[in-house]
Amino acid sequence: EPTLGELAAAKGRYFGSATDNPELSDAPYVSILSSEFTSITPGNAMKWESTEPQRGRFDFAKGDEIVELAQRNGQQVRGHTLVWHSQLPSWVSDGGFSAEELRSILRNHVTTVASHYKGKVVHWDVVNEPLNEDGTLRDTVFSRTLGESYIAEALRAARAADPDAKLYINDYNIDGIGAKSDGMYRLVKSLKEQGVPLDGVGFQGHLALQYGFPSRMQENLQRFADLGLDVAITELDIRMQLPADSAKLATQAAWYSDVTKACLAVSRCVGITIWDFTDKYSWIPDVFPGEGAALPWDENLRPKPAYDALRVALGGD
Ligand code: G3I
Repeated sequence: EPTLGELAAAKGRYFGSATDNPELSDAPYVSILSSEFTSITPGNAMKWESTEPQRGRFDFAKGDEIVELAQRNGQQVRGHTLVWHSQLPSWVSDGGFSAEELRSILRNHVTTVASHYKGKVVHWDVVNEPLNEDGTLRDTVFSRTLGESYIAEALRAARAADPDAKLYINDYNIDGIGAKSDGMYRLVKSLKEQGVPLDGVGFQGHLALQYGFPSRMQENLQRFADLGLDVAITELDIRMQLPADSAKLATQAAWYSDVTKACLAVSRCVGITIWDFTDKYSWIPDVFPGEGAALPWDENLRPKPAYDALRVALGGD
């Protein structure tokens, strides 16, 4: 039986999963992680609070552990994430820096982390979640102090540090056509016009059955591809109100299939990553109480209908 990764490879795509360091002591979990996927994203290990918890003190232990596992398994790594307003250490989020100082802090962080992983990370989510729901620039310590220019600064520093990595901007609720994806479209079009190094847009794909399937997803991916950018589904999960039942699991399976088909229909959609693969380790129940069952494997690491739907959508049987 070919794996999801092998099926995707036959279509010229990768199929990945996020993972996190505490999960790596779960042998049955690691066995699936190591065999089924061709790409791995560290769910937390490469975030600023992990990699530079104190100013100028870098710690790559957790990220390295995941990179080494991926390398042993012949898997690519998607780096996540260099600049984000969340999971920032307080020395950064507390602010109080002048523009000049914050620009130098940001450049140093991006340069040091991207240099450490040079040649080991295929894609970088250089900037994560820069937009508000209405498509305007999110108010963060970076935008407040540096304006929109922080995005170009981060991308330029990442390109200089690792010229071969594909550089992405990544966000949620941009999967379908709407105000937020229109905002992302304007942002990346303007960056491209200014010659800022940007290779792709990441569509997180945190979907929920109760909110409906994203509107015109394939068309949305295509309009970004038409700007000369790669696109990728970077954090896919499809949550539901608990308890799960067979009807909800069937709808979920159909959605996993529909997301996969939308990606396969866009030649520049380079791959799909699910945000971990088992309900055992999903972030959803902690953040949305009463919701969950979002991933293709259940809490006992057994494949759900979504897993079979993914296989079929990727051309398996
Ligand atoms: O590291 C501490 C640990 O020391 C402490 O004992 C424990 C107790 O709660 O918390 C641990 O930190 C948790 C961290 O994950 C590491 O496990 C945080 O509480 C928890 O909030 C954090 O959640 C992560 C979340 O980002 C934070 O925003 C999730 O694991 C991670 O999957 C999630 O991923 C994000 C993407 O980066 C961006 N897109 C959305 C996505 C889902 O929120």
